[in-house]
Amino acid sequence: MPTAIDVSSVVGLIAVGIFTAQILLGLLLSVGYNPRRQFPRLNVKLFTFHNWLGYIGLATALTHPLILLLSSTAGFRLFDIFVPIWSPTQPFPNTLGAIALYLVAFVVFTSYFRRVFGHHTWKLLHYTAYGAAAVFYVHGTLADPLLQNRPIDFIDAEKAYVEGCALLVVVATVLRYRARRGPRGRTLKVRSLKSEV
Ligand code: HEM
Repeated sequence: MPTAIDVSSVVGLIAVGIFTAQILLGLLLSVGYNPRRQFPRLNVKLFTFHNWLGYIGLATALTHPLILLLSSTAGFRLFDIFVPIWSPTQPFPNTLGAIALYLVAFVVFTSYFRRVFGHHTWKLLHYTAYGAAAVFYVHGTLADPLLQNRPIDFIDAEKAYVEGCALLVVVATVLRYRARRGPRGRTLKVRSLKSEV
């Protein structure tokens, strides 16, 4: 019979998967990929998908620590969930988890009100997503799924999954950066315009 701690850990892993997909979709949006006009020519609106995945991911990430309140052994109070600096076990990884949750909430909240900020400011605020990702991948790697403060086994299946997601995002971000600087990218366009002046 799985305990509340086991369920919380699985929900945390699901949140990592959702946010990884979310960042990959965001990267596709930022390079102007359109699945209707390009491969696989499917009637999918990437923006709507990215938007809804943000809400689903945030709800999943919030549910992940709240499940610990149902555990009789974890010893977490509601305060420890939102301010885990003094939480019963692993306060450092837990605090990283809370910071990641607040950063993701900030990204979703500012996106909901993006018209208020204007596109440029909103886009700058949206880069917080990369900071959030760095923090939740470290949290997912350091946290002991049994809450027993055991040493980290970096090649355990759950840890390998989190590390794999982080690697995927790093590779995709590098590719996106290179695509932007490529022949049709803005940087090169600006350079060629300058050389014409
Ligand atoms: C739920 C509300 C959200 C909305 C409406 C939204 C909307 C967008 C849009 C329109 C873009 C393309 C921006 C452009 O290039 O002009 C984008 C990119 C991106 N989004 Fe979101 N987003 C949301 C939530 C999130 C969340 C929760 C994350 C991650 C935790 C995220 C990660 C990203 C990333 C990494 C990019 C690529 C940024 C870049 O390098 O240009 N987004 N998003």
